[in-house]
Amino acid sequence: MRIHIFFHRSKRLSFNKVIDLGCGRGRHSLLFAKNGYDVTAVNLSKYAIKELVKKAKKDRLNIECKVIDMLKLSFKDNYYDCLFTYHVISHSVSKEVKTIISEISRIVKYKGEVFVTFGNIEILSMIN
Ligand SMILES: C[S@@+](CC[C@H](N)C(=O)[O-])C[C@H]1O[C@@H](n2cnc3c(N)ncnc32)[C@H](O)[C@@H]1O
Repeated sequence: MRIHIFFHRSKRLSFNKVIDLGCGRGRHSLLFAKNGYDVTAVNLSKYAIKELVKKAKKDRLNIECKVIDMLKLSFKDNYYDCLFTYHVISHSVSKEVKTIISEISRIVKYKGEVFVTFGNIEILSMIN
């Protein structure tokens, strides 16, 4: 996904509260925070979140960083204007994907938007 699509749409629609699901070490979260969004960054890995906390502190950015499994999101219903998840859902099996989609639709506001990448057979190198 081209990040400028996210910025273009979310600015036009006046989105502010964004959650970066499976943020890794937070390259997108940092970019969102630098561009004035109110950012929540979540990841399963304690190490990745620790690294993001360090970077955010160094850059004086206020990012809510949480170690959370995306299968059990502890956020309120209809809370986020938009959700961003880049190369994350492809790490899950089909049953989990259903749960994740259900959680995403629960925490994102009605008329909010979701920016998501899904893996495919080429990305997963199942064919030559
Ligand atoms: C390929 S990385 C992408 C990271 C980030 N989105 C980026 O573009 O830099 C996938 C990330 O998803 C995280 N992840 C995988 N399963 C997860 C889960 N159940 N809950 C939260 N994060 C998860 C991994 O720890 C990893 O950091």
